[in-house]
Amino acid sequence: MTLAITPGTTTAVPAVVGADLRVPLVTGERVTYANLDHAASAPCLQEVRDAVDELLPWYASVHRGAGFASQVSTRVYEQARDRVRRFVGAHASDAVVFTRNTTDSLNLLARSVPKNTAVVLFDSEHHAALLPWRGPNVQRVPAPSSSGAAIVALDRALAAAPVGPRLVIVTGASNVTGELWPVAELAKVARRHGARIALDAAQLAPHRPINARELGVDYIVFSGHKIYAPFGAGVLVGRADWLQQAQPYLVGGGATSKVTDHGDRLGVAWSAVPERHEAGSPNVVGVHALAAACEILSRHWEQTIAHEQELLARLQEGLRTIPGFRELAILTDADKVGVVSFTISGFDAGFLAAALSAEYGIGVRDGAFCAHVIVGRLVKQVGSHEERAVRASIGLGTTAEHVDRLVAALRALVTEGPKWTYEQRDGRWVPQDDNRTLPPFLA
Ligand SMILES: Cc1ncc(COP(=O)(O)O)c(C=O)c1O
Repeated sequence: MTLAITPGTTTAVPAVVGADLRVPLVTGERVTYANLDHAASAPCLQEVRDAVDELLPWYASVHRGAGFASQVSTRVYEQARDRVRRFVGAHASDAVVFTRNTTDSLNLLARSVPKNTAVVLFDSEHHAALLPWRGPNVQRVPAPSSSGAAIVALDRALAAAPVGPRLVIVTGASNVTGELWPVAELAKVARRHGARIALDAAQLAPHRPINARELGVDYIVFSGHKIYAPFGAGVLVGRADWLQQAQPYLVGGGATSKVTDHGDRLGVAWSAVPERHEAGSPNVVGVHALAAACEILSRHWEQTIAHEQELLARLQEGLRTIPGFRELAILTDADKVGVVSFTISGFDAGFLAAALSAEYGIGVRDGAFCAHVIVGRLVKQVGSHEERAVRASIGLGTTAEHVDRLVAALRALVTEGPKWTYEQRDGRWVPQDDNRTLPPFLA
């Protein structure tokens, strides 16, 4: 097992691939990369890479081959369902459908709900959760300003929802602010109104243990690449009945048990869940990596949470000393995972992100984080005219030095200005005369 104690923190956490990555600066120097963009895509865990390496010699077709390696790969793929089920504390009867990512999982769920299902969600959701639901039966509830207000608002929205099947979608942790939503309480409200509830755990799964049974949620979705397993797999776990009644999400091989030729038409018997929604050759490498990440994270929650909370406190404390810094917040009373989105008055978010990368070797995200509605509202609340912010996000690859470097770099940018010249090209800030060389495999 590879554990790393990061300088300035007291806890040992699973090590990530690329911890020593050196990146070029516009000045020609090289520095260790400070990845403060875990919320977008987390680096691969060393142990996940080891698990993938172990599988690769055995890699072969899944569900399609009599060869021994095919049988091994099929076994790996099928066992991953139980490994994921354990990670989220799902019911034994819950379906585990492997997908490409959270977006894919939510689109699958949206295609599978019975016709006329009333869908209720907060307008602070990520586009992946906000957009798949269309039509008159979708209620977008304005984002509340506290956990208590969220519960009251959901109760009200469900009381007004039409009779029939109902589904609530809620995020576990906001990708904009990192705040933890009161999922168990919202699930109770949903249950009281006869609604099912789906948990978008894309930002929760890397940072906190999840137990579907204790939370009382019906569906959970998340992505491998956000839990340190960037091999193209995601998952939807949850009640099987709607999924079983739905038309297959993708049609093709694997989703069918029998296809017969009736001359003018084909007769198709669709497979049962989960294969029904997994047409095409399954991504066994991605699924194995995802399941391995689930198990590795499960063994280290205490250290992971301590590590991230220590760094989050350091980050917030440092950022609050920067002139003009304003942190975005939705649920002002909630605990949060290591995500801080902010504006700095007088500075464009895109410019700050470009300069942090070019002059300091720091990776952050800028923009509206696929949550345009809420980011637009929050930046206005903090007095900004641009519908953009900077997001720094912490994870297992973050060190105290990364955090300190970000704070020092922002202070220098704000008080002394950039050391390089930047221009806007196609709407993005870029350094002029950018001679940073790409890695040799891209050259
Ligand atoms: C809360 C939340 N939901 C859904 C998604 C979509 O995840 P993916 O891009 O892996 O489909 C993201 C990605 O940032 C997210 O943060």
